Amino acid sequence: MLQNKNILIGITGGIAAYKIPHLVRLLIKNGANVKVIMSNYAREFVTPQTLSVLSKNEVVTDFFDSNSNWNNHVKLAAWADLIVIAPLTANTLAKMANGLCDNLLMATYLSANCKVMVAPAMDLEMYKHQTTLSNLKKIESFGNIIIPAESGELASGLSGEGRMAEPENITSTIIKYFETNLTFSGKKILINAGPTYEAIDPVRFIGNRSSGKMGIAIADEFASLGAAVNLVLGPTQHLPKNKNINIIKVESASEMHEQCLMFSDSDIIVCAAAVADYKPESIADSKIKKENEVLNIKLEKTVDILSELGKNKKQEQILVGFALETENLLEYAKKKIANKNLDFVVANLANNQAGGVFGSDMNEISIVNKDNKITKFELMTKELAAKKIVNYVVEYTSSKK
Ligand code: CTP
Repeated sequence: MLQNKNILIGITGGIAAYKIPHLVRLLIKNGANVKVIMSNYAREFVTPQTLSVLSKNEVVTDFFDSNSNWNNHVKLAAWADLIVIAPLTANTLAKMANGLCDNLLMATYLSANCKVMVAPAMDLEMYKHQTTLSNLKKIESFGNIIIPAESGELASGLSGEGRMAEPENITSTIIKYFETNLTFSGKKILINAGPTYEAIDPVRFIGNRSSGKMGIAIADEFASLGAAVNLVLGPTQHLPKNKNINIIKVESASEMHEQCLMFSDSDIIVCAAAVADYKPESIADSKIKKENEVLNIKLEKTVDILSELGKNKKQEQILVGFALETENLLEYAKKKIANKNLDFVVANLANNQAGGVFGSDMNEISIVNKDNKITKFELMTKELAAKKIVNYVVEYTSSKK
């Protein structure tokens, strides 16, 4: 239910912090990726080690870790699809209401574009205090979502409202939030990904090193936002995580073309495949024997799937192409957008700092749109790059309205 969702949990210093390992487990069980930031006081109630083991990620508290590495709050905020601050103490609430920035959690909160949910936990009178009530109202007016405290026995021994919502209730609020915010619900999306294999004879082919990971990550991201995704996938061992994606396995460029045409009425089309540009003019019926010193294989151009889709592009349809460039990014991208009738081009930097894009889990992308505007992104995982590309589609679509 939470597949592909990046949830950043901020734990502040209240006794209810002991329930957060359980919350982390529930979120992970539902498929989410979880990272945790703890305030200094939170560490008095629950250990970072426990949370690190459960979340399978490093847990951070300070701007610098013990090796003097900088914990980048902007990166953490950009990673998150949702920030959940639980338990939320009166102190952190007051900081959120007034923009105080004295720790990593607050810096991350202030840097975030995504939604923020808070689960307050306070003692009876504290929760009812005018300041608390007015601060809660204030942060709600900023767009934050409050998961109200529940009634019951409190740490002080008193009984009443102030207990942090149970992890099960926080989890169901999170699931409901994502279900009702499915940006692409009702939308049909076509993605092609992976390499193509062009047969030379029954046992040999011309192929390329594409793993398909980037296109697969885009398919997963769209599906997690409610889209009906058809993924036309060339030969690769990688598969999307989301079980709702319709996968059509193909081998050659012409098979990929044929299958893509079946979904050419999609609302959004993303051509991420590394389609072979040339194929053998004819395929030998039987295995070619090594009889001659030199073997010439005559190649002919394959069909340009993206161009074909561009020629028949519908008015409202969004068509996105990919490009692998080493230089003159803008010049080539501009040409591609015009020649292939695209809305925008995602350019992979061929020689990124991760040592190249093929097969890697990392990618460094730039997006060039019809107005020649370049949006550059730093080196990031292909999952995160997919989120950036999908967010770009969301912004592009709303700017067209
Ligand atoms: N593409 C396609 N069919 C082809 C070849 C490419 O649909 N036969 C698509 C790819 O999926 C990608 C884009 O076209 O979205 C790549 O554009 P292309 O013009 O092939 O450029 P590059 O491969 O980046 O390089 P070059 O222009 O140097 O050939």
